[in-house]
Amino acid sequence: PSTSDYALEHIEAYQDRMPALFVARQQTKGRGRGARSWFAGDGALTFSALLSQANTPIEPHAWPRSSLIAGVAMCQTLEQYADTELLKVKWPNDVYLAGRKVCGILVEKRELANPVMCLGVGVNVNNSLENAPPDVQQKAIALTDITHQRHFLPEILLEFLLRYQKLSEANASSLESLLAYWREHCLLTGRQIETMQGTQQLTGECHGIDVNGSLLVQTSAGQRQIVSGEIIRW
Ligand code: BTN
Repeated sequence: PSTSDYALEHIEAYQDRMPALFVARQQTKGRGRGARSWFAGDGALTFSALLSQANTPIEPHAWPRSSLIAGVAMCQTLEQYADTELLKVKWPNDVYLAGRKVCGILVEKRELANPVMCLGVGVNVNNSLENAPPDVQQKAIALTDITHQRHFLPEILLEFLLRYQKLSEANASSLESLLAYWREHCLLTGRQIETMQGTQQLTGECHGIDVNGSLLVQTSAGQRQIVSGEIIRW
């Protein structure tokens, strides 16, 4: 049903075997952020990784950054197949292709002996959305809809994992390149956006992200940082 549900249900069994990766050929009950569901037909790439603090150099307080890293790693991966001009990241970690969502990422945390992160990634690859209902087509796209090719899913998965690991290296130059990449590929910088953080709604101009990965919004009352939340309109 869902790679993230499976991973989280079996988290204790994998406690001493992390990182652990769960991949599905098809998902029937995929979950998205908030209360959304994530539809993934045959040909989509869906996986979840259980990472304990021992496997990641990033401290738990900076885990919001690993969610950004995942978005950037997938955006860079898809650049191997599609024109970079068409690929954008949307805070916190969605990847857009030709103005439509191609990848969604769900990060969940659990406290075991060590904090554990479940990184769930869904990418529309060979599951063309050209015949999907018009409301889905307006918002979502698959890689094949642009390339008109069938892609080898394990290759995309491996590319992503290598890039994720590289970008997670905790040093100043990896952080700098992450931020530079984000700034270059940010879908919404300079645009008017509406955000929700808990029950708080904010409207203003998107000014990209800060070093911790918080979204910067210039409101009429000054600049605000959104640590976690959603962009609801843009
Ligand atoms: C979103 O954009 O709202 C996040 C979507 C995350 C979907 C992935 S698919 C693999 C993993 N398993 C799930 O049930 N959800 C995530």
